[in-house]
Amino acid sequence: MIKIVTIIGARPQIIKAAALSRAIKNNFSSQITEIIVHTGQHYDDNMSQVFFDELEIPLPNYNLNVGSGNHGKQTATMISAIEDVLLIEKPNAIVLYGDTNSTLAGAMAASKIHIPVIHIEAGLRSFNKSMPEEINRIMCDHVSTLLFSPTKTGFNNLIQEGFLSQTKAPYSIDNPKIYHCGDVMYDNSLFFSKISDVKTSIINDLKLKNNGFILATIHRNNNTDEPIRLNALFKSLNDISINHQLQIVLPLHPRTSNLLDRNLSKDLVEAIRLNSNFKIISPVSFLEMLALEKNCCLVMTDSGGVQKEAFYFEKPCVILRPETEWIELLENGAALIADADENKIKFSFEQLIAKKDLSFPKLYGDGNAAVFICSEIISQITIK
Ligand code: UD1
Ligand code: UDP
Repeated sequence: MIKIVTIIGARPQIIKAAALSRAIKNNFSSQITEIIVHTGQHYDDNMSQVFFDELEIPLPNYNLNVGSGNHGKQTATMISAIEDVLLIEKPNAIVLYGDTNSTLAGAMAASKIHIPVIHIEAGLRSFNKSMPEEINRIMCDHVSTLLFSPTKTGFNNLIQEGFLSQTKAPYSIDNPKIYHCGDVMYDNSLFFSKISDVKTSIINDLKLKNNGFILATIHRNNNTDEPIRLNALFKSLNDISINHQLQIVLPLHPRTSNLLDRNLSKDLVEAIRLNSNFKIISPVSFLEMLALEKNCCLVMTDSGGVQKEAFYFEKPCVILRPETEWIELLENGAALIADADENKIKFSFEQLIAKKDLSFPKLYGDGNAAVFICSEIISQITIK
């Protein structure tokens, strides 16, 4: 029996972890034992508990209750607490998702005490080191033993950084193995899509029309913390809503919500309040989010996960960042980079909404990435 410790902490990691936990439960329960550690990076019920309630993720064995804070203190507190758990549990490997401070903390804690790191979502790069996530990803990848990239681009990025495409077992931190395996979030989107149809009522509750609204999310630190950018984003959304008589649904991340009063102009706040088509709501559950993604006409987001989910549900996407790690979305033409630039956002919206020939090929695997990852963990991780 292989024992893994899975680290989760931020909203997208909790959702991603559902795919592996489901694969373990359904296919590998006699071969893999999973211990789940929640760092507590996200802690509001609608940023954490809701996903355990609806996605059948086993409850965490440990909650480190680290909470919010500056990067250094938050990450250091996590490293110390994760190390304590690893020393107690003595797992054969640690499983880390994505690029958050919880990911980095897991990587630092495990690699220093010689526990193999398995990184899911390896190799993604924005090539912009002013993003905290870019630093977290690079550091995590370079102490990993098994690196599972969801895209060919991610796999190639690893090769560019010196990883070898063909290595021989046994694998270790000094002889890592890299894979291109598809995206566990594609697994999840397929699996939960039908459940979302049956279990959610958000489209009716908000009186939304199929294909009649824009779904938006904004939480990236450079967008929330820089008033010029935040004002440009909200003004663009409000103008598009008024000019095109379109509803906007914006489930607002707590980071953004906490900064609106300070960083948004009073006039803009008032204009948005008077626009009954601009619906700013609390963060929604994943099943509700899927319903919104499936029923909207277009997505505008600075989220990594939401960009891809737009693509999975064949919706065009305006990316509210200067760049993206998911460059195949751009190459394919269904997503455009608009940054936080009012003109680019309006132009991108008009371009995409008018296009009738967008294509959405299967770029992110076959919906079985988590099963593949589990079988590789069983084959490649040595039980000491
Ligand atoms: C984090 C990740 C980011 C990811 C995002 C997913 C890092 C460096 N960033 O960003 O990559 O895209 O999660 O959502 O790890 N807050 C609450 N309640 C909560 C959680 C946060 O009010 O449950 C507020 C706090 O004011 C906190 C702020 O949001 O200071 C930021 O939270 P934090 O986890 O540090 O970063 P995110 O912006 O959420
Ligand atoms: N999500 C959600 N409720 C929301 C907003 C997002 O369930 O109100 C989901 C979304 O569907 C995706 C994930 O959260 O699966 C993305 O998380 P987020 O945008 O916070 O982080 P990122 O992907 O940018 O790291």
